Amino acid sequence: MGQDPPKPKHDHEALIFPEGFLWGAATSAYQVEGNNIHADWWEWEQIAKPPQMRSGVAANQYELFEQDFHLAKSLGHNSHRLSIEWSRIEPEEGKFNQEEIDHYIKVLKTLKKLGFTVMLTLHHFTNPAWFAKKGGWESFSAPDRFAKFVEKIVPELSEYVDLWITINEPGIYTWMGFMGGDDAGRFPPAKKSNIAAAKVIFNLARAHKKAYKIVHKLIPDSKVGIAQNLSSFDAYHKHSVSEQLAVFISDITVNHSFFWLTRNCHDFIGVNYYRHLRYRRQKGLLPELMDVTNIQKDVSDLGWEVNPEGLFNVLADVSDDLPIYITECGIASTNDDRRTRFLINYLQETYRATAAGINVKGFFYWSLIDNFEWHRGYPPRFGLVEIDYKTQIRITRPSAHVYEQIIKHNGIPHDLLKLLGHGIQAIDVLKEDIEE
Ligand code: BGC
Repeated sequence: MGQDPPKPKHDHEALIFPEGFLWGAATSAYQVEGNNIHADWWEWEQIAKPPQMRSGVAANQYELFEQDFHLAKSLGHNSHRLSIEWSRIEPEEGKFNQEEIDHYIKVLKTLKKLGFTVMLTLHHFTNPAWFAKKGGWESFSAPDRFAKFVEKIVPELSEYVDLWITINEPGIYTWMGFMGGDDAGRFPPAKKSNIAAAKVIFNLARAHKKAYKIVHKLIPDSKVGIAQNLSSFDAYHKHSVSEQLAVFISDITVNHSFFWLTRNCHDFIGVNYYRHLRYRRQKGLLPELMDVTNIQKDVSDLGWEVNPEGLFNVLADVSDDLPIYITECGIASTNDDRRTRFLINYLQETYRATAAGINVKGFFYWSLIDNFEWHRGYPPRFGLVEIDYKTQIRITRPSAHVYEQIIKHNGIPHDLLKLLGHGIQAIDVLKEDIEE
């Protein structure tokens, strides 16, 4: 107790990533921009039951984007994932707001000037309020409505975009807005209807395919995909047939079904990885997802199990001929040492994947800055950079500098790995040491 952790020795082995690896962080417009008053989410925040925190000015990235991008640059990032807010660009059906389009041109130009590889998401959970009023994604016309937006915006922005994500997490969007379960029903329109959910997922698949084709028609050599939330699943009792069955069915529905529905319309696989989920038979026949906070596992502030190997497993699970980008991976924690440990461990598994021949080409930490975590509001802290919401001051967390060191080496210095064994405090010593 109270003793300094051992001073690490340098050695020159490191886990080196493939050349040209993309290192960056991700955000989404609604979660960081602020004042997205034409979005269905904005309307939802005013009426949600139980009432939830409102997004308000968020991290005010709408005005502070230059500062944030310079910060990312100074932290060594070579790429950035962000989204545009459909409801700003098309606040009324068929009426496009040129000022907002110009704003996004400015945003993307800034990124390009700083030398970033840009990954742009066209739809990240929020819709224009008018679109929601017309039946949202349940409507058979929804994919065409989205396609018109895509046709308009893609030529405006294409000069500044390297990788396109049509839709972020169609599965989570459908689950949270249209199905049952713990957190479900906490996204608009909070329907809880399996029939509605089936329509939505089907329409999202149609929308992705249309958008994929439009982007390719407009820019023949473009790279287009989705960012899908993939989870790793486990059975608590390996002997339990019902638990194993739950694992199997979850893997198919959560991790594979949307890719099957949209086969041949992906130039890469975008993986958002957050959760390792364990099924456990309770009193009844059907297994349920376990609360892992009491099984001595490291968990995030949201109670999500830290399970780096799960990332390797999902990467292996979806790997085929297509390149893979980890489009989101991060931890909500007010303890930044945890984030540091998380980054090193998850990147070690990413390295393992590349070493195993899985074609992983980039990693986008979620998130560059703290942001509006949907129905959970502002308490979860995912950022490499802290936001003081009273002043909008950006405070770089130490973990951001550890990430910076990894990026600088295009790999994980061996010292970082060795230090994990010495406990979290040792990381501070390392941070000083590798900066020398
Ligand atoms: C979403 C993000 C969200 C993150 C953490 C992902 O499902 O794409 O918008 O903030 O998870 O919950």
